[in-house]
Amino acid sequence: MSTVNPRQRLDVLCQLLNDYNHQYYVLDNPTVPDVEYDRLMRELQSIEHDNPELKVATSPSQRVGGEALASFSQITHLKPMLSLDNAFSDDEMQNFVRRLEERTGRSNDVFCCEPKLDGLAVSLLYVDGVLTRAATRGDGLVGEDITQNVKTIKAIPLQLRGDDFPQRIEIRGEVFMPFAAFNGINERAIAHGEKAFANPRNAAAGSLRQLDSKITASRGLSFYAYSTGVVELENTPMSDHHYGQLQQLKGWGVPVSPEVKQVKNLADMIAYYQDILNRRSELAYEIDGVVNKLDSIQGQDKAGFVAKAPRWAIAYKFPAQEEMTTLLDVDFQVGRTGSITPVARLEPVFVGGVTVSNATLHNKDEIERLGVKIGDKVIIRRAGDVIPQIVSAVVAQRPNDTRDIEFPSTCPECDSAIERLEGEAVARCIGGLVCGAQRKEAIKHFSSRKAFDIDGLGDKLVEQLVDEDMINTPSDLFSLTQEHLLTLERMGEKKAQKLLSALEASKSTTLAKFIYSLGIREVGEATASNLAQFFKTLDKIKAASVSRLTDVDDVGEIVAKHLYYFLKQPHNLAVINSLIEAGIHWSVIEEKDASALPLVGQTWVITGTLHTMGRSEAKEKISALGAKVAGSVSAKTTMLVAGEKAGSKLTKATELGVKTLDEDGLISFLAQFE
Ligand code: IVH
Repeated sequence: MSTVNPRQRLDVLCQLLNDYNHQYYVLDNPTVPDVEYDRLMRELQSIEHDNPELKVATSPSQRVGGEALASFSQITHLKPMLSLDNAFSDDEMQNFVRRLEERTGRSNDVFCCEPKLDGLAVSLLYVDGVLTRAATRGDGLVGEDITQNVKTIKAIPLQLRGDDFPQRIEIRGEVFMPFAAFNGINERAIAHGEKAFANPRNAAAGSLRQLDSKITASRGLSFYAYSTGVVELENTPMSDHHYGQLQQLKGWGVPVSPEVKQVKNLADMIAYYQDILNRRSELAYEIDGVVNKLDSIQGQDKAGFVAKAPRWAIAYKFPAQEEMTTLLDVDFQVGRTGSITPVARLEPVFVGGVTVSNATLHNKDEIERLGVKIGDKVIIRRAGDVIPQIVSAVVAQRPNDTRDIEFPSTCPECDSAIERLEGEAVARCIGGLVCGAQRKEAIKHFSSRKAFDIDGLGDKLVEQLVDEDMINTPSDLFSLTQEHLLTLERMGEKKAQKLLSALEASKSTTLAKFIYSLGIREVGEATASNLAQFFKTLDKIKAASVSRLTDVDDVGEIVAKHLYYFLKQPHNLAVINSLIEAGIHWSVIEEKDASALPLVGQTWVITGTLHTMGRSEAKEKISALGAKVAGSVSAKTTMLVAGEKAGSKLTKATELGVKTLDEDGLISFLAQFE
């Protein structure tokens, strides 16, 4: 047996895990799937567990988090962490460049353009290449010690690569949460009935400021460096240009945004801004603008600082995505499937580059969660092409005359009842056939192939007929005339005649198809067919209670309720009646008299192997003749079907004097009824 030296294996594992992270986060070139990374990580943890003396300070196992802290300690920054001045227009950018030139007496300077990441600033201190301390920005002078948490962020190297890094170097950058991680966390939060994060920046901040670093480890945070702080060189010269310094950082294994670019002048900076703004929705993380920095470090020193921001850098912000406005009213919209959505009517406000006067409020739960009232000041947010959302109500500024948002009790479009099933967030109008909002979808479904299968009546024509007010419900289809049809565009005599014949032919149908065509929620073809088989007549289905409906195969509580409520709506009944008046008919499903079946009152048992039909088919055939098929033999058993290798049941039947049939006997017995 070969023994692996744990020290050697541990070295290999550390090297592999560090390389995989580097390939993923710095080189943007993932080489192994997550499961492989996780497998190696578990192996490393297990070796360290068994050999604690081998564990090093830079071990990748720190990525999983450690003991929770009681509180964060404070860290005074070696150099203040500054913020940035903002520009909101090309003119303001022009002013920035002009002032900079005046101040430094330089011209034709090169700039470095970077995305402005929407996360939070951190400072990382590497001593002899080892990450030794990490801090939040705090107020710029004093931040919090978040070293344990930062070590769980896989994008941040625990050890710098190579050997030409400064003896001490402070690296500054942004910790952020990519959209994928953000969406996943919010989906899980909502599924657990917890509050979702309003945006990726809040989510990143909430995840980084956790006393339990294991929580931070689970949040999928990432990092890009954007500057250095204090650097103590020894013999490593830093580049005299910002862009060059970022490349050095990258060389030492620190991730830098691939979007960073050196440009020549103002026009280039404006073009860069436009380009990034256009590609914003393609990026995997949130940005709120671009940052333009004078590239020359010498030039930066000349420009100096004003208050808390450098004169040599500026954030050119994208149009705000969040604004405050007033909630004027709430309307309720009915979707094509009957879903009722509350829509906020807002005092128009310019946000994210467009004027917004409506925002979705999703559903009743969301209204309750927001605690918003009509008349409130609200924060609205627009991200990319997404429908504007209400983020929060500004309760501190609530006027005296606000009103509660009242959910309607009937459909605002057709006055039918609204239902909201247990466990569902969405309320729906159940007037499927008559509701104006659902009309087109209902008629399309009605005429589709598996329903009335009306040849020549495609989706386009349905829309045309509804738009021209020629039909409102499926039953109106049957009063269309050649004259009516010929008034439509692209409708010739031949086509009209064909459609009328197809409508006429479709009148002869089956009860199952008729039920399916009504478009009752959750009632598909199979359920419609089971209903027809079980009840035989439409009247019986209409009269059935919810609990009676659940006696049908595949009909559970939810489907039964959909059916029940649908068939209680006067509007829906009116459409059903007019369809029947229009001549829709189906052949009667014969009631078989159960008491007349030949094996009524008998109990059969089947055992052993049946070669020609199998036990389940045999069971079906025997039950169809009226017998009960039981699992065990008793004195009450009428007949035991004993296939090959029948065992204890056959013995028992013989003991009890129960009659038996072998497979051939069963086949000839059944043949007499075919
Ligand atoms: S440079 C002295 N570069 O924006 C310059 N900041 O509004 C200090 N930020 O606190 C910052 N992306 O959190 C810089 N590429 C970038 C940035 C960036 C995001 C953040 C950073 C800073 C804030 C200032």
